[in-house]
Amino acid sequence: MTSRYAAVYAQWRENPEAFWAEAAKAIDWIKAPSRIFDPEAGVYGRWFPDATCNACANALDRHVAAGRGAQVAIYYDSPVTGTKRSITYAELLAEVEALAAVIAGFGVGAGDRVVIYMPMIPQAIAAMLACARIGAVHSVVFGGFAAKELASRIEDAEPKLILAASCGVEPNRIVAYKPLLDRAMELSRHKPEACLMFQRPQAEAAMIPGRDHDWAQAMAKAAGQRVAPVEMKATDPLYILYTSGTTGVPKGVVRDTGGYLVALAWSMANLYDVKPGEAFWTASDIGWVVGHSYIVYAPLIHGATSVLYEGKPVGTPDAGAFWRVIAEYKVAAFFTAPTALRAVRKEDPEGKLLQNYDLSAFRTLFLAGERADPETVIWAERVTQRPIVDHWWQTETGWPIAANPVGLGIMPIKRGSPTVPMPGYQVDIVDDACQPVPAGAMGSIVIKLPLPPGCLPTLFRQDERMRESYLSEFPGYYKTSDAGTKDADGYLTILGRTDDIINVAGHRLSTGGMEEVVASHPDVAECAVLGIKDAIKGEQPCGFLVLKAGVSRPFEEIEQEVVALVRDRIGPVAAFKTAIVVARLPKTRSGKILRGTIKKIADEEPWTTPATIEDPAALDEVAAAIRGRGL
Ligand code: COA
Ligand code: AMP
Repeated sequence: MTSRYAAVYAQWRENPEAFWAEAAKAIDWIKAPSRIFDPEAGVYGRWFPDATCNACANALDRHVAAGRGAQVAIYYDSPVTGTKRSITYAELLAEVEALAAVIAGFGVGAGDRVVIYMPMIPQAIAAMLACARIGAVHSVVFGGFAAKELASRIEDAEPKLILAASCGVEPNRIVAYKPLLDRAMELSRHKPEACLMFQRPQAEAAMIPGRDHDWAQAMAKAAGQRVAPVEMKATDPLYILYTSGTTGVPKGVVRDTGGYLVALAWSMANLYDVKPGEAFWTASDIGWVVGHSYIVYAPLIHGATSVLYEGKPVGTPDAGAFWRVIAEYKVAAFFTAPTALRAVRKEDPEGKLLQNYDLSAFRTLFLAGERADPETVIWAERVTQRPIVDHWWQTETGWPIAANPVGLGIMPIKRGSPTVPMPGYQVDIVDDACQPVPAGAMGSIVIKLPLPPGCLPTLFRQDERMRESYLSEFPGYYKTSDAGTKDADGYLTILGRTDDIINVAGHRLSTGGMEEVVASHPDVAECAVLGIKDAIKGEQPCGFLVLKAGVSRPFEEIEQEVVALVRDRIGPVAAFKTAIVVARLPKTRSGKILRGTIKKIADEEPWTTPATIEDPAALDEVAAAIRGRGL
């Protein structure tokens, strides 16, 4: 079958409003949009400005009403706790209504924020949907962050209520959330009035009387209560999701309601090629955008079955876990990060474990979060015998910018390329003067405004930061901060970030944020943190430190303290394990640290001494230090 992509993309270009008006029919509106786009509203315009709807009603009620009540909405599969549970649409709706009643009982209403600090358990999905039901704006914080990161999110979002679980379960340890939460509440200037705590048997949390409330008790009281979905404007925020910016202060990406539902529904059918009733599995975490969109909202809006997997690709218990889950739940489309496949490949290079499972329902494997390196793609093609579809997007966009739209008929795959822009996105490669570069040449990747439905309308309470961060450098465009190329066929290649963000095991981290922490160590005079190549995680952060004059303690001691400091302030997810004391940092004559050259040395790529260097010997010293560590 030839792909209908070119025709569909052309249709969008010809008349974007007609295209999105048609796509909007997949959603149950309370008041259907009579206007599709208002270019005057918001920072760069707003989608569906006069429509109203409710995201939870679209995810649950309408499917129950249409006869899907007995269909499984969520398969919860947790090898780390030895638990499995199937939850039907009707059961999930009942749980969400009771939880919505509990949340409303704390005085939370439409527009109020609720921070959700929970691991990959069904209660977390219920929490998100219950907020959506009553119009409260949720903000989920990933469990691998430290108390300080949680505090900065609480301070910015100013939630009325926190929904938390007592712990997360990592293969090598139980992560007690409550002490982190208590510490975050101490650190934050904003103090939420109440905290609803879901006690897990793996670690019981100590409760603070008056502030902390027991989830199970509250739910028992609310069982059977009905709570009607609140009519929200399509332009109302559904959630805030914080992501790394170029400083230690995270950006609160706002997601609106109507546009997001429309874009997700379009993507399920046309991009992921999943039909209502089929199982869709995204092995990510609800703390990331991938989890928000493709574990929770998109599969449920589409009437599919979502798999919620609390485990790892390897070690829980082995590298056959992915294939086991795909077989067990008859997963049609599976989405993960390349890093996870690299981890599987390392343990089971021949894919022997896959032979134990019946993968007949499985059609396509999707990858995102970082570049899908051709070697990993070739391996995955060989062992799965399925198309491996790389697709590219960001927290900000909420759904893929570029992909191979399998539902429209798969396009030829060019390994190393996430294929072509989706309808809604005009993607250009430009130089610093915002002029298009020739086909195949590298430049900054920008998206012509307006961004399509589903993308961020702004940053939470920070329109100006939104403009400065994304819209001012390339007038008329959104700056993705990724660099790359577009070939003569329109295929994109994403080559890396143009800012200080690195991707570690598919997790987005700011080296600037890490430098702020490292520099706060009392013995550190200056530092540079870079992402250096890692065979499994893609990149790993590495810090180079210059100590203050007169510091005479053993270097190893300081290096260990710095590593512990980053873990304590940012969290284990930063995976900051290497700090190296050097006598000085190589700089240009104007004082810029030569990060690019240090990275090349560490990555064992060819490098030359830049002509602008202040003191070439400094570079040789750093090269010797890197070799000394065997990096
Ligand atoms: N809560 C608490 N801690 C967490 C956590 C969570 N939800 N997720 C990760 N961590 C911890 C890990 O336990 C680890 O701690 P450690 O330093 O004590 O070992 C640390 O954060 C780093 O985690 P990670 O980078 O994930 O490495 P890992 O060694 O645990 O696993 C992979 C490596 C490749 C198997 C794993 O990263 C993976 O499956 N990644 C998938 C990526 C992904 O889903 N990305 C989302 C975007 S699509
Ligand atoms: P996040 O906001 O966490 O989703 O991270 C977004 C960033 O991850 C992008 O700006 C890219 O740098 C990177 N990224 C995501 N998907 C891909 C992909 N398919 N190929 C290359 N880079 C990717």
